[in-house]
Amino acid sequence: MSTLVVVGAQWGDEGKGKVVDVLAAQAQVVARYAGGNNAGHTLVVGGKKIVTHLVPSGCTYPGTLCVLGAGMVIDIEVFREEVAALQAEGMLRGGELRVSLDAHVIFPYHRALDGLREDRANATGKIGTTRRGIGPAYEAKAGRRGVRVRDLLLNNVAQLRERLELNKAVVDAELARLGGSQHAVDVEHLVRAAAGWSEWLAPMVCDAGELIERALGEQQRVLIEGAQGALLDLDHGTYPYVTSSTTTAGGACAGLGIGPTRIDAVWGITKAYTTRVGAGPFPTCETGPLGQAMRDAGHEYGATTGRPRDCGWLDLPALRHAARINGLTGLCVTKLDVLAALPEVKVCVDYEDGLKPGVDGFDRARPVLRALPGWGDPARAAALAKARRLEDLPTVARAYLDMISEYTGVEISLVSVGAGREQTILVRDAY
Ligand code: IMP
Repeated sequence: MSTLVVVGAQWGDEGKGKVVDVLAAQAQVVARYAGGNNAGHTLVVGGKKIVTHLVPSGCTYPGTLCVLGAGMVIDIEVFREEVAALQAEGMLRGGELRVSLDAHVIFPYHRALDGLREDRANATGKIGTTRRGIGPAYEAKAGRRGVRVRDLLLNNVAQLRERLELNKAVVDAELARLGGSQHAVDVEHLVRAAAGWSEWLAPMVCDAGELIERALGEQQRVLIEGAQGALLDLDHGTYPYVTSSTTTAGGACAGLGIGPTRIDAVWGITKAYTTRVGAGPFPTCETGPLGQAMRDAGHEYGATTGRPRDCGWLDLPALRHAARINGLTGLCVTKLDVLAALPEVKVCVDYEDGLKPGVDGFDRARPVLRALPGWGDPARAAALAKARRLEDLPTVARAYLDMISEYTGVEISLVSVGAGREQTILVRDAY
């Protein structure tokens, strides 16, 4: 087995950064296939916190190729800053970065549109986006006027100018309507900016699908990193409160340019509880002190926007939905240590009125919660954070994992009991 896809199985922020960082030790190529700098992947290496937004979480390993796929939308200025920051920490100095020629570019006018639409929307119209320009950039892509990385290269200036003019015709009118004329598309300014970017980008550009095919041909291991989570998927999430890309495992093929037969396994990541940031249904949300206790214990604040995340109980029907739409072959359960810090634990086993994720009315779903024996015992919490094998876990925690596995029909592959790399229980081999 040589290709493993790792995806978020909730509403994002499940701990993909940490899990991918741990698994990347065994891979030669780590590739991202969707989203942009709406993502924030947190890694803790040697006690030091590293947050990436665009670069795949394999970046801490010298020599591991990090690939940004065609399905991504890339804000080049943000990308440059992120790479410079990682290089200042000693990473990515050996030419390990590759960017698909077909990835789309986020421009300042995309960000302006995203923010202004959110500001002007009424309460039900607000999505609570990250305001990074993700939706507008994907709209341009679907509208066949998007600018791709290949258009930034110097020999494509005429095409770039033409594309930007096409966008200007659409975007300026909307910006004016939203009161943002100062953000109007300045074609010549952007053409000049692109000339600066092209020299920096040129050594990195690639056909990501071809690169992966070659790596597999050389018996290398490929790790594919999802962004956001299943319930934020454009087609199968809690539409319209979703992101604008395919976050589920199927997106890995489309977003990288490889066939489904190249995927050997799909692991889904879930927290031991649930969080959500932005608008939209969240049936198990705890708005009172218990939610705050989870937020405090789990440090639940957005890695990209700093927004406090809403917190609630693990939603098993939603997780089962995620398992189905991703075809999960393994589950990684993160932040088990956070539950141990809570005075009370509940889990959602059903919804009232026969509702389920993906059907109309899910926004009204009321969870059927099952209370579990409290874990809030400091001795247990300490033991849990030190566990390195399943057998080291307190009985109550193992029972919890068994319940998740039985309900979803997916085996547990990995358990995380803290932010550090070493605080990981690898239950099954990844490759
Ligand atoms: P957008 O992706 O910025 O357009 O935001 C759309 C929705 O996805 C909003 O609810 C965001 O909060 C959510 N979202 C986007 N990226 C992430 C992420 O990495 N983690 C959690 N939520 C996200």
